Amino acid sequence: MSGRPRILAARRLPDNVTARLEHDYDATLNPVDEVLDTDELVARAAGHGGLIIANTEQVDASVVAALPESVRIIATFSVGYEHIDVDAASARGITVTNTPDVLTDATADVTMLCLLGAARRATESLLTVREHRWTGWTTTMLLGTHVTGKRIGIFGMGRIGQALARRARGFDMQVHYLNRRRLPPEVEGDATFHDDEASFLANCDFLCLNAPSTPATIGYLNAARIAQLPDGAVVVNTARGNLVDDEALLAALKSGKVAAAGLDVFNGEPRLHPEYQTMMNVFALPHVGSATVETRDAMGFVCLDNLDAYFTGQPVPNALAALPR
Ligand code: DGY
Repeated sequence: MSGRPRILAARRLPDNVTARLEHDYDATLNPVDEVLDTDELVARAAGHGGLIIANTEQVDASVVAALPESVRIIATFSVGYEHIDVDAASARGITVTNTPDVLTDATADVTMLCLLGAARRATESLLTVREHRWTGWTTTMLLGTHVTGKRIGIFGMGRIGQALARRARGFDMQVHYLNRRRLPPEVEGDATFHDDEASFLANCDFLCLNAPSTPATIGYLNAARIAQLPDGAVVVNTARGNLVDDEALLAALKSGKVAAAGLDVFNGEPRLHPEYQTMMNVFALPHVGSATVETRDAMGFVCLDNLDAYFTGQPVPNALAALPR
């Protein structure tokens, strides 16, 4: 038995992260990588001072209450932390940390991938090639939605929204945004801030959801808001599935009100609404926003930096307060 803090990794971690974790801590791993239900998480946590979890582990108030006394810190391998009741953890003196910044670029890249994939009918194009249905070039085959010069509306102008805006400017798009606070001028640049939701939605040729999942944003994209989008708008979601009312979006995708959707996140993922898997105007990815080797290593190292700080009595860089309501 070593004197090093005991850390439970609830999910399998990238090899470089596992190596550092095992070097510095008494680590309990999950090499099979099964998703732990809450009872199993609580059981495995026994005797551990810290947990590394992901957005696949739900740590609500009842789980926080059931965790063994030994657990002092929960480091989530994600920027999103809606799966953790931070208030309940704080009340028990448990520190909670996330991994901001390091996944900003990768996620903004995948947002552009979803935007372009939806606009340019990538699902149909890929299938045309893969299913040997491509018979030759025509002037009218697979015509999509032009991107250059169009208006992109970014819902949630945090780090990822701002990185998306930088990319969109590279495509000569006009940036509009809706955010709780207006950005300072040096960050806002030529983007148009809307304090009025109707004017924001009316300017979204492309609506990109980049806000965290909070009580205020859950179900944001509903039928009433879709009705306020320009006809033929494109919807992109790389934030959280529960920002979207699936039935409303699917109805709009069928009617043509929404021309196409690029989606990396889903309600109930990985068991997404089955129609997203069959509709040709849906470009769907399996929650790969942060999935680059470099980014996943960096996310793991941020988790470890937070644990290191906690267990050496230093200020913890990414200690969280509860999400805004
Ligand atoms: C995040 O970091 O929140 C990503 O969505 C992966 O969970």
